[in-house]
Amino acid sequence: MKAIILLGAPGAGKGTAAEDLRKQTDFQHVSTGDMLREAVKSGSAVGERAKSYMEAGTLVPDEVIVDIVKERMDRDGPDAKYMFDGFPRTMKQAQMLDQVLDEHGADLTHVLLLEITEDVVLDRIAGRRICKSCGAVYHVSQLTPGQACDQCGGELYQRPDDNEETVRKRLQVFRDQTSSLIDYYEQKGVLHRVDANRTPEEVQADLLGLIRESTAGL
Ligand code: AP5
Repeated sequence: MKAIILLGAPGAGKGTAAEDLRKQTDFQHVSTGDMLREAVKSGSAVGERAKSYMEAGTLVPDEVIVDIVKERMDRDGPDAKYMFDGFPRTMKQAQMLDQVLDEHGADLTHVLLLEITEDVVLDRIAGRRICKSCGAVYHVSQLTPGQACDQCGGELYQRPDDNEETVRKRLQVFRDQTSSLIDYYEQKGVLHRVDANRTPEEVQADLLGLIRESTAGL
């Protein structure tokens, strides 16, 4: 088992980068945000519990997150390779991940920090549109009014937590509860910083270069 973490503020481009990297490597894209949105959509107990936190832009309690991630990792075999997007987000989640990776004799090969300025975040999130059917992510600058999904023709929508007030809250939560993970992973010697204010292609080239530098078998 191997793992990579994509760390960064809301709107830094973690999901976009993870989808591109998934296509070019054999890492699975594991987004706790997507898992929670699926749970909300299906009306499951986890979804019921998570919904109000997500709408408010605050973090879902650690024990809910730890359970859904553990369940996923226990389901896959020892050869699984994970690219975590939006996880871990607190020290408790990071310690839980260390423990599970330890139990599986697995390596955390990279923590890729997408560094971005807050004005760019606000523009990206305000303009984000997502396909209801396949989950493809767009920015309004790439779309014409009323356009459907390029990949499957599905309808595009805006996430309910993508309004300015909630985004500012999510940025605050990142500063208060997640940014301490930067030091944590820097001290472990696995942190790599990437300037995420650039085009998706430039960001992607750097990320892929970093992964390929030290990961065999991609
Ligand atoms: P989550 O879904 O993880 O949201 P987030 O971290 O706030 O990140 P985003 O999905 O908003 O942004 P992103 O970095 O993936 O950017 P994207 O690639 O889409 O979490 C949502 C909620 O769930 C949380 O608030 C919390 O309540 C809960 N939650 C989730 N995980 C949790 C956990 N571990 N613990 C507790 N609670 C948890 O890009 C954004 C836009 O920019 C898109 O329109 C895209 O097209 C565009 N774009 C991307 N890259 C570029 C680029 N390089 N140039 C130009 N445009 C770009």
